[in-house]
This record gives sequence, C-alpha cells and structure tokens, in this order.
Amino acid sequence: MKIDVLTLFPNMYNNFLSESIIKRAIEEKKVVVNIHNIRDYTVYNNSQVDDYPYGGGSGMVLMCDPIFRAIDELKSEDSIVIMMTPSGKLFKQKMAYELSSYKHLIILCGHYEGFDERIKSIVDIQLSIGDYVLTGGEIPSMVVMDSIIRLLDGVINNNSLVTESFNDNLLDYPNYTKPYEYRGMQVPEVLLSGHHQNIEKFRNDERIRLTKENRPDLLEVKDE
Ligand code: ADE
Repeated sequence: MKIDVLTLFPNMYNNFLSESIIKRAIEEKKVVVNIHNIRDYTVYNNSQVDDYPYGGGSGMVLMCDPIFRAIDELKSEDSIVIMMTPSGKLFKQKMAYELSSYKHLIILCGHYEGFDERIKSIVDIQLSIGDYVLTGGEIPSMVVMDSIIRLLDGVINNNSLVTESFNDNLLDYPNYTKPYEYRGMQVPEVLLSGHHQNIEKFRNDERIRLTKENRPDLLEVKDE
C-alpha cells in the first residue's frame, strides 16, 4: 500500500513514522508513506494556501488551487481520496478493514476553519474520528493510518486480530501476566487451568460482559 498525506504541518508525522510497528511496516516495505507539504503546491505569492471566508466569519479557509494541483499530481486509477474533517462519516474498525484493501490512499488534512467546499468534489470519503473538534486533521489522519497499517498482511500476527475489540461488535477480553498475585488481586483460576474450552468460554463471556458494561450501543448495532 502507498499512502500520500497532504498537510500544512509535515513535522507532526516524524515520530509517528519512526517508532514501533509503523516504523517496522515501512522498513519491511509493507507500506510506503509520503508526507507532502500543501505549500509546495501553491502558485500564489508568499506560499499562500488559505484565505478569509466569503461572507465573513473567523479563521482561514484552505483554498482550492493548491489542493487540486496536489491531487492532480498524486492521483492514479488505484487511488482513493480521503478528507479528514469533523463533519465526515464516523471512522470505525469496519472502515479500517475496507480501506486496508486499497493500493493507494491520499489523505487530506485541514487546519483552521477547514476547506473550501469545492474541494469536496475531488474527495471520495470524508472521515471524522469522533465527536470532538481537533486543531487539524493531522492527528486524525495518524489514527486512520495506524488502524489501517496494522491490518496489512504481515504487519502484525494475524491471530492478534481475531478477537480484538470491535470484531463481532464486541470488545476484547481482559488479559493477565505475571505475577499471579499483585496487591491482593489474583489472576482468574481458569486461565491457569490449561483447559482450552473453559478458557475460551471465560474469554467470550468476558467480552460480552465488558461490552454490556462499557459499550452497550455496540450490542444494538445490526450492520452498518
Ligand atoms: N479535524 C478536526 N477534528 C477532526 C475530527 N474529529 N476528525 C477528523 N478530522 C478532524
């Protein structure tokens, strides 16, 4: 997979791309990530990329031309263009799976008051990571990229993906490690029994219990 990100703040991605699983996925060529500065695509004086909103109001709005130029240059037949915006569709694990099958993602990050509305004409999906407003689309784009890259073949052990949270609309089961007792709290006996069926039943029951407790809304979802 190739991911091109368009941003006004390319340095925000330095740590994200150079640590842990994402770093390894890049080194092992499971994914190529290119971070592009939107200012590199403007033809306006002083590298201008935004301007005041027509009709008045606070903040600045990203202009069409730098974004259209960037996407014209980066886009191919295999691309899907994603815009990060708090008014987009809510990003969920199911969408992470869907996007993980694309060859090329172009992710557009806004800042300030957002984008000139006409930019949406060249966008395939608008995504929000949740019902809150951040200072820009950079952190949301990292959330989306992280969740997709870890699903790519060979990036992490596939077994870890099977029971993790949100698969089957259930949260993940709880895990324990050594020591057996810590500050008076013991590991559930069944996990030490070596009885695989009982362990599986315990874990399934825990997934249902935790989901009822923390995310009852997930149990009501039929299909989205
Ligand atoms: N930009 C600012 N807030 C955002 C959000 N919640 N999701 C996606 N992009 C955003």
